[in-house]
Amino acid sequence: MASDIRKSPSASAPHPPLRDYYQTEEQRRKLLDLQFDHVAPDYNWITQASSFGSGKRYRREALKRTGLTAGDTILDIACGPGTVSISAQQIVGKTGRVVGLDPSIGMVTEAKKQGTLMVVQGKAENLPFPDSTFDFISMGYALRHVTDLTFTFREYLRVLKPEGQVLILEISRPDSSLPYQISKLFLKQIVPWMAHFGTKNPHAHKLMKYYWDTIETCVPPETILQSLEEAGFVQSQQYTLFGGLLRDYSGRKP
Ligand SMILES: C[S@@+](CC[C@H](N)C(=O)[O-])C[C@H]1O[C@@H](n2cnc3c(N)ncnc32)[C@H](O)[C@@H]1O
Repeated sequence: MASDIRKSPSASAPHPPLRDYYQTEEQRRKLLDLQFDHVAPDYNWITQASSFGSGKRYRREALKRTGLTAGDTILDIACGPGTVSISAQQIVGKTGRVVGLDPSIGMVTEAKKQGTLMVVQGKAENLPFPDSTFDFISMGYALRHVTDLTFTFREYLRVLKPEGQVLILEISRPDSSLPYQISKLFLKQIVPWMAHFGTKNPHAHKLMKYYWDTIETCVPPETILQSLEEAGFVQSQQYTLFGGLLRDYSGRKP
C-alpha cells in the first residue's frame, strides 16, 4: 500500500486551493465526499444531459481506443455511479473483471444499483490492492480531485501489471479563445442551472459550479503528462477533441 499522503496542498496538486469552497485540505475532502454523496442518484442524468446524450458512448470508445479488450482485469478509479465501469464490463466480458472504486459511499451504492458487479470504497491515492494486480486502470473526470498528481500516478503504476495501461478522461480549458469562451458559458453558467432544474437536487448547482472552477484552475495538460512520466509511465500521450475541451491522457507501465 502507499505511504501516507501529505495533508496540505502539494507541489503537484491538480489545482490551487479554492478558498471560496474550503480553507483546509481536510475541508476539501469532506466537501467532495458530501457533494458527491448527495448528487449520486442524479449524477447520470447530469452527465448525459450535459453531453447531449453522448457521454456513455464516448467513454466506451475511449476504453476501446486505448486498448481495453475481452478478458482484461480493469480498475475503474473514481467510478461514480459506474459510468465507465459498466462500459468496461461490456468490453471485457465474462472472462474479464472490472473493479470500481470511489470514496463516496453514495456513489458506491449507486454504482452497485446501476449494475457494476464489484465496487469498493477507497481513494486513488491509497489503493487497497496488491502490486501488479490489473491490466488496465481508468479514471473518468476525477483527476482534479486527487491530492497530488505524481503521488497518485505512482500508486497507479504500483497496482498495474507490467505493460499495463492507464487511461484518464478529463475536461480541460480549450486552447484558443472562442472555444474557451463558449465552454465557459456552457459549463459555468448553463450546466449548473440545467442540473438544478433538471434534477431538483439542491446540491447539483454547487457541485457543477465547483466542477467548472476546478477545470478553469487546473494545471496545464503538459504538467499532467510530465507527472505521468515522473511517476514512471512511458509513452504518455493525450488525445484531444473540441479544441481541447475533452482530453484523454494515457500511458503504459514499462
Ligand atoms: C465527476 S464523478 C466521475 C464519475 C465517473 N467516473 C464518470 O466517468 O462520470 C467524480 C468522482 O470522483 C470521486 N473522487 C473524488 N475524489 C477522489 C479520489 N481522491 N479518489 C478517487 N475518486 C475520487 C467522487 O467521489 C466522484 O464519484
